[in-house]
Amino acid sequence: MMQHEDLLAELAHSAEAVTGSLEAMLVETDGHENRVMEAMRYASLGGGKRVRPFLVCAAAALFDVDRSCALRAAAAVEMIHCYSLVHDDLPAMDDDELRRGQTTCHIVFDEATAILAGDALLTKAFEVLADPKTHADPSVRSELVAAFARASGHEGMVGGQMIDLCANEYELDLAQITRLQRMKTGALISVSCDSGALMGKATKKSRHHLLRYAQDIGLAFQITDDLLDVTGDEAEVGKKTQKDADAGKATFVTLLGVDKARERAHVHCQRAQEHLAIFGEKADSLRALATFIVERRS
Ligand code: IPE
Ligand code: IPE
Ligand code: MG
Ligand code: MG
Ligand code: MG
Repeated sequence: MMQHEDLLAELAHSAEAVTGSLEAMLVETDGHENRVMEAMRYASLGGGKRVRPFLVCAAAALFDVDRSCALRAAAAVEMIHCYSLVHDDLPAMDDDELRRGQTTCHIVFDEATAILAGDALLTKAFEVLADPKTHADPSVRSELVAAFARASGHEGMVGGQMIDLCANEYELDLAQITRLQRMKTGALISVSCDSGALMGKATKKSRHHLLRYAQDIGLAFQITDDLLDVTGDEAEVGKKTQKDADAGKATFVTLLGVDKARERAHVHCQRAQEHLAIFGEKADSLRALATFIVERRS
């Protein structure tokens, strides 16, 4: 089993690499349109745990995918994630002022620029995925594009955000909350892992086990996010807390209470680790990441 400190070092190392890739991909221009690039860089270069890029790289490493290819897919998923955060923080959605310890994009720039920056981060991600530098095999690139599109759109993250916005109007039960979280957060986490398998042309069996892992850490991740909203320290979490209760939003925590929700996150973490058995020691960092996800304080 990997030590917690070793995982933290690996996470920091991969975060630095993905930030470098993003920096190189998001190039400033001379025209007036550079304002949107400034906003894209603001939203993506400063901070974040970079969990999704880590998953792409760690999953890709299971199948001996070239590291520079994996890093491109990793940067793409982080762009999609950052776009989702910029839009999530808009007044029309969660109306937040703090993200990753910084003032939110729409406040530093303006709402219209934040909307455009989100749009452009999303589309840039697909430009990166479709580039031959991401994978030599065009059929793999097309699978990547389709998988990321499905995970991001109305059946995935966007669909989850839609339900989430209506969550205070309906009395969602546990099954419905689980479905919402699978879509809102789980889909992008799953495709992060799956992209490694796709790039490495993994067997059906390996892909299946990796996806089961991803589904469990996805739920553990969102339950922990909901817990941090209730129990977390604003300065440490880097975003405003107590938002969900104030908005009357049903979450795992409002439904189960803090202790049961935490217990449930740990059950998902353990299950996730069990799904990795077939990969042996090669999956040690993915195992350690599952623990990180439920023990994190930000
Ligand atoms: C926050 O995601 C939004 C959710 C999907 C819960 P993260 O907790 O991964 O945020 P960053 O990227 O570390 O800022
Ligand atoms: C947003 O969920 C998830 C996204 C798809 C962006 P939250 O609204 O709970 O995320 P935070 O707590 O603002 O990071
Ligand atoms: Mg939200
Ligand atoms: Mg939010
Ligand atoms: Mg939240």
